[in-house]
Amino acid sequence: MNFSTDMHLDQNYPLKALNTFGMDVYARYFVEPGCRDEILTLMNYRHMVRLPVLFLGGGSNVLLVNDFGGLVVKISSKGIDYRETGTGEVLVTAQAGEIWDDFVGYCIGQGWAGLENLSLIPGTAGAAPIQNIGAYGVEAGELIERVSAVEIKTGREFILTRSECRFGYRDSIFKQELRDRAIVLDVTFRLAKFRHNNPSPDKYDGGHDCVADPGPSAVKLRVDYGDLKRELQAMGIADPSPANIRDAVVRIRSRKLPDPALLGNAGSFFRNPVISDGVYEALRKMYPAVPGYPAFSGSASHSGERTTESGKSAVSIAENSVSENESSDSGRNYKIPAAWLIEQCGWKGYRCGDAGVYPNQPLVLVNYGKASGREIVDLAHQISESVFTKFGIVLESEVNVIE
Ligand code: EPU
Repeated sequence: MNFSTDMHLDQNYPLKALNTFGMDVYARYFVEPGCRDEILTLMNYRHMVRLPVLFLGGGSNVLLVNDFGGLVVKISSKGIDYRETGTGEVLVTAQAGEIWDDFVGYCIGQGWAGLENLSLIPGTAGAAPIQNIGAYGVEAGELIERVSAVEIKTGREFILTRSECRFGYRDSIFKQELRDRAIVLDVTFRLAKFRHNNPSPDKYDGGHDCVADPGPSAVKLRVDYGDLKRELQAMGIADPSPANIRDAVVRIRSRKLPDPALLGNAGSFFRNPVISDGVYEALRKMYPAVPGYPAFSGSASHSGERTTESGKSAVSIAENSVSENESSDSGRNYKIPAAWLIEQCGWKGYRCGDAGVYPNQPLVLVNYGKASGREIVDLAHQISESVFTKFGIVLESEVNVIE
C-alpha cells in the first residue's frame, strides 16, 4: 500500500521484539507510523481497511496468544514540547511513542518534579493514560493536564481534560467507552519546577539538592510508600530530591521486578483487588495477617469481588463463609495486594515449562523462554481460580490478552 509517506506496510512481520512477554508471534500486516502526521494519515486509510487492527506502544501490557491476522500498528511518534506557566509549573507534552522512562529521566534532568515515582516503568508515554500507570504512591492521571487523541473510525482529533479522562486505579475512559475507538496522540503533564543545589540532578549526594520553585500548586514530593521510604533511609537520604526518588525507585524495581529485556513479562499481571471494608474486616478475622490499604481510587463493585451463586458478594473460606451483608460497611474500600493472595495460595516461584510466577513478586507472570501465550493464560487462570477458592476474591487481569 502507498501511504505517500515513508511508512512501509510489511507482511508476516515478527512481533517477538515488540512485546515484553517475548511472544514469538507474527502480524499479517505491520506498519510503524513515526510521527503524529503519519498516525493521522493512517487513520484516513483505516476505514478503507476491513481488517482487525491492533495498536502497540511499548508492548509492555499485552499478552499475544496467537499470530495476529490483521494489521498491527506500532506507534513510534517522538517529540517533547513544553510551556512554562509562570507560576512555578510547566506543561510538558510528550508524543505517544516517547519511551516512558526516557521521558521521566528527561523531565527530572530539566528540573521538573512529579513523575519521579513512576521511574523505570516499561512502555510509552501514550500508554500512560490508558491504564493510568501508577507506582510508589503516584498515578500518572494525577499529573495529566490533557490527552489529545484521534477517533479511529473517523480520523477526528479531540482533546480530553484530566477529569474527562475519568482516571481510576489502573483505569480510564480509554479502557471503557473509548476502548478500541481512539488512539492517544500525545499527553500533557503539569509538573513543578524545582531548583537544584546539586548541578547533576541524576546523581544524589545524600543531601537536600533541590527546592521546589515556589508556585501556587507545586507538586509535593511523595515518599510515603513503605518500600520507597525504607529505600531512601537505606540510602541515607532524609530530604530527597526528585533525582534521589528516581534512584530509589530504580533500585527497588530492579530488585523486585524482572527486566523485560532479560526475562519476558508484562509487569503486574493482575490488578490488586479493591474490596469493601466489610469484606476486608471479614477477611481479617480469618486471616489476621492480610495486608490492606485504603483505596483512594477504584471501586469495589468492579475490581475484586465476584457475586456468588446466592447473589451476594462474599469472602468464603472453606466451610466458613462471610457475606458482605453480615458485616458493617462504611462505604470505604480497601486494596488488597494480589501478590499476598497469590503467595498464600503457594504460587510464588512456581514454574511449569517456561511459564512461571516470578519468585520476587508473584504478581508478575514470566516467560522463561519459549512459553506460549496460551500457557501464560492457563497459568493465570489457575492462579485466579485458586485465589477465588481460598479467599472468594476475583483477580482481574491488568494485561491486555489478545486471543
Ligand atoms: N507481597 C507479598 N509477597 C510478595 C510481594 C509482595 O505478599 O512476594 C505483598 C506485601 O504485602 C507487600 C504488598 O504485596 O507489602 C505490596 O507489594 P508491592 O509494593 O511490590 O506492590 P504491589 O501492590 O504488588 C503495585 C503495582 C506495581 C507497582 C507497585 C509499587 C499493581 C497491579 N501493581 O504492586 O505496578 O510497581 O505497586 O507501587 O497495582 C505494574 O503495574 O506492572 C507494576 C509493577
